[in-house]
Amino acid sequence: MRKQRLVILGYGQRGSIYARYAIDNPTEFEVVAIVENSEKNLVRARQNHKCPIFTDYRDFLKANIEADIVAVATQDADHREHAIACMEKGYDLLLEKPIANNIEDCEAIYEASVKYGRKVIICHVLRYTPFYRKIKSIIQSGLLGDIVTVTASENVGYYHQSHSFVRGPWRNKEIACPMIVAKCCHYLDILRWLIGEKCQKVSSMGTLSHFTEKNAPEGSTQYCTDCKVENCIYRAKNVYQEWKWMRGYFCTDVYDDEQANELLRYSQYDKCVYRTDNNVVDHQVTTFQFDKNITAMHSMTAFSKEVYRDIKIHGTKAELVGSDMGKPVLEVRVFGGETITYDFSDANLSGNHGGGDVGLMHALYLERNGVAVDGLTYIDVSIDSHRMAFGAEQSRLEGKVIDIK
Ligand SMILES: NC(=O)c1ccc[n+]([C@@H]2O[C@H](COP(=O)([O-])OP(=O)(O)OC[C@H]3O[C@@H](n4cnc5c(N)ncnc54)[C@H](O)[C@@H]3O)[C@@H](O)[C@H]2O)c1
Repeated sequence: MRKQRLVILGYGQRGSIYARYAIDNPTEFEVVAIVENSEKNLVRARQNHKCPIFTDYRDFLKANIEADIVAVATQDADHREHAIACMEKGYDLLLEKPIANNIEDCEAIYEASVKYGRKVIICHVLRYTPFYRKIKSIIQSGLLGDIVTVTASENVGYYHQSHSFVRGPWRNKEIACPMIVAKCCHYLDILRWLIGEKCQKVSSMGTLSHFTEKNAPEGSTQYCTDCKVENCIYRAKNVYQEWKWMRGYFCTDVYDDEQANELLRYSQYDKCVYRTDNNVVDHQVTTFQFDKNITAMHSMTAFSKEVYRDIKIHGTKAELVGSDMGKPVLEVRVFGGETITYDFSDANLSGNHGGGDVGLMHALYLERNGVAVDGLTYIDVSIDSHRMAFGAEQSRLEGKVIDIK
């Protein structure tokens, strides 16, 4: 099979994961160019790769680099410009999710993929995890009978919510896409894929209940650094001590505790979770109606101890119950029959997203070499899950059921 020539557009947190995969799997991918415009990440790119590096994507396009795929891993708001320009030039894309941060841009990227005849694979990494692939294969085997209804819960984790959706880049609807898109589009993509039918209608309710000033503890201050409320579970220094990986947002490549704490002091991530400029929801419940009268319910909550997802799929012959927390748990309870438990002890769950990042890259390599890979996240299905997500947000804001295109 042929090694794939990969370009990274945006060598940040996500782009560098895909570039790293190429270093670790040199028979599958070779990074042939990087486009990055921040000094900090350019230094890392130059340290790790010997390929041509561009600071402006237009210069990359003019350079006529021979490549098989461009990974667009810049921020959501830039996807439309970067994705369409690369497709117009003739490149196929690995495009980070969400496709874009508003539905108009998502549709424009989708239309451009049709117009230029380009393949676009969306980085819905959950689809490549052993857990969800197993669920899909169980459905395809017919063991559940016909799917009637699905219940899914997305437990964001109190600390992860505080980091990404209260203090971090996705905290405010003026600067980011809605929670149901930013966080939940992965799970909506899973629902759309597992159910295998188009969604017709959506309704949704949810609010920001807890992370508001009225819930601030007495005596708390604007920044945790000055705060005397010692037992607050959101105290920044403690949060970033326990979950060090989240420090990457304010101190890339610096993991020394003392330096990290210095950079944290009075930064955006040191802000009191009850006193910042966040306005995205911390809980949201959404219901969907698919073709064939299949229904689904998705519930997102900030308030869980760990980050995990639960799923129940009720078919006409059996119910499937699963949870992807840590080591996944999955069983099928056959009506009038046995209960089958599935074991993931041999599955490759390494890396981020329960094995999803490496699973995506390997599937991409196979697909580019003409091997049929079931369930690749092409834009023509992923656009549906984005329509579901933006429809849910419209429903939440307008208080009515929304028809999906
Ligand atoms: N698939 C997933 O599970 C997942 C998880 C987190 C984030 N994301 C998505 O991945 C994308 C990137 O997120 P991230 O966390 O890696 O962000 P990031 O800020 O770490 O990375 C973006 C990179 O793009 C660079 N950049 C920005 N504008 C540029 C330009 N005009 N030219 C060249 N480089 C430019 C930035 O300097 C940065 O290095 C976003 O769309 C985000 O929503 C996906």
